[in-house]
Amino acid sequence: MAGPGPARTARSVALLCFLVSCAALVDSRGGASRPSRQDLDVGLGGGGVGIGIGIGGGSPSSPSPTPPSSQPQPCDFENERLYRAYLVIQQFRSTVTCDPMGVTQSWSGTDVCSYKGFFCERPPNVTDRAIASVDFNGYMLQAGSLRGFVDSLPDLALFHANSNDFGGAVPALGGLQYFYELDLSNNKLAPAAFPADVLGLTNATFVDIRFNSFYGELPAGVFCKLPRVQAIFVNNNRFSGALPDNIGQSPVNYLSLANNRFTGEIPRSIARNAGTLLEVLFLNNSLSGCLPHELGLLEKATVIDAGANRLTGTIPASFACLRKVEQLNLAGNLLYGEVPDALCRLAFSNLKNLTLSDNYFTSLGSCCWDLIKEGRLNVDRNCIQWAPNQRSHEDCAKFLRQPKSCPVNNYVPCRSKYQSSSEPADDAAAEYRYRTYSALHP
Ligand SMILES: *[C@@H]1O[C@H](CO)[C@@H](O)[C@H](O)[C@H]1NC(C)=O
Ligand SMILES: *[C@@H]1O[C@H](CO)[C@@H](O)[C@H](O)[C@H]1NC(C)=O
Ligand SMILES: *[C@@H]1O[C@H](CO)[C@@H](O)[C@H](O)[C@H]1NC(C)=O
Ligand SMILES: *[C@@H]1O[C@H](CO)[C@@H](O)[C@H](O)[C@H]1NC(C)=O
Repeated sequence: MAGPGPARTARSVALLCFLVSCAALVDSRGGASRPSRQDLDVGLGGGGVGIGIGIGGGSPSSPSPTPPSSQPQPCDFENERLYRAYLVIQQFRSTVTCDPMGVTQSWSGTDVCSYKGFFCERPPNVTDRAIASVDFNGYMLQAGSLRGFVDSLPDLALFHANSNDFGGAVPALGGLQYFYELDLSNNKLAPAAFPADVLGLTNATFVDIRFNSFYGELPAGVFCKLPRVQAIFVNNNRFSGALPDNIGQSPVNYLSLANNRFTGEIPRSIARNAGTLLEVLFLNNSLSGCLPHELGLLEKATVIDAGANRLTGTIPASFACLRKVEQLNLAGNLLYGEVPDALCRLAFSNLKNLTLSDNYFTSLGSCCWDLIKEGRLNVDRNCIQWAPNQRSHEDCAKFLRQPKSCPVNNYVPCRSKYQSSSEPADDAAAEYRYRTYSALHP
């Protein structure tokens, strides 16, 4: 996720004039000229989490020298946008009930761009700097509500508030014309249905509301009203009901639905995500029905995790086409039949970790045995003769006696091509290399 604005350029003449006239009006401290402030050097890191900031130049201390007013005046600020932001921030500051890291202490004075957690940029086609992003990740601030705060900073593009203690409802950000990244993960937002206001964020690229208490169905709008969305993280909430049929309409790259209570089938429209989906977690829900052939069409996916559900059927032959897949987890389901040799041969492409434990598979393709030896395939607690750690005969017989209704799909929708990966093997446990798996930690 790149930063919202263009690279910093020299301050505009207009702004200089503003400052100079302002200084002439108000600055009378011992003839000292107002220090020339330099631009803050703000760079947004990948995922918007790491934000580096370097402050140039001396910063002016309390700039309103004369009574009667101890309140900064509009003229004391670099521009009017920042003055208005100042008022909004002071109002919010008064509602912060806990600030263990002392962040809000820096929220005073007229240099709003130097406040901890606030970052300035010039909005497109605007010469003034404005508050473009707010990053409170990990600050553990407590406040009853975000309404009247983030939604009142009109030039905001990013709001990141991972691991704070913000309550209330999701603020209505649909009116913020530049807004595109929302991270409200791991807060204490009031239990509620999926926030409809988020669907108004037409330009959103990043929507992260994981580790909250949202419940009810995921609205279809999540997958059709956010045409630029790259990441959707709704894991670790209390969502339930069927996944919307239109899941395949979304251009999303990273999708985490894990640790909710979704039911029903994996929608077959997922095939339409083939051009964009890189990682998808269905992990730990109550999804059922036959493991769909369409999952095998996700030719760009590096992570497909449908573990810990109630999926059944055999592994469709289409899975042999997952040449990019590195992590494939189908453990903890009701799958049966043979683990296809062609699936295990994906280890010659990119497959690093194939987890099929806790199912009812009965046999393995010949290549699969090598993967077990290499520690790349886990088939514990299945019904596979000669494999270690299998289910009891009774357990297996009971399951295998039940009627099976899933079709066996032998159609392989790609040409066979077993190329070895040109990438160097990386042995790092590397769960954190994957954005969706990283999202499973608060
Ligand atoms: C910014 O200005 C350029 C050139 O003047 C124009 O083409 C563009 O539409 C403007 N963008 C916005 C967001 O106003
Ligand atoms: C989305 O971005 C476009 C162009 O950048 C802008 O015209 C539009 O107003 C934005 N939408 C919202 C809801 O802010
Ligand atoms: C699986 O999901 C359930 C219900 O959403 C949750 O209570 C449980 O903690 C999850 N399991 C893991 C290992 O996260
Ligand atoms: C392989 O994937 C499973 C399921 O996601 C996970 O529990 C396990 O830690 C992974 N193993 C390695 C070595 O990455």
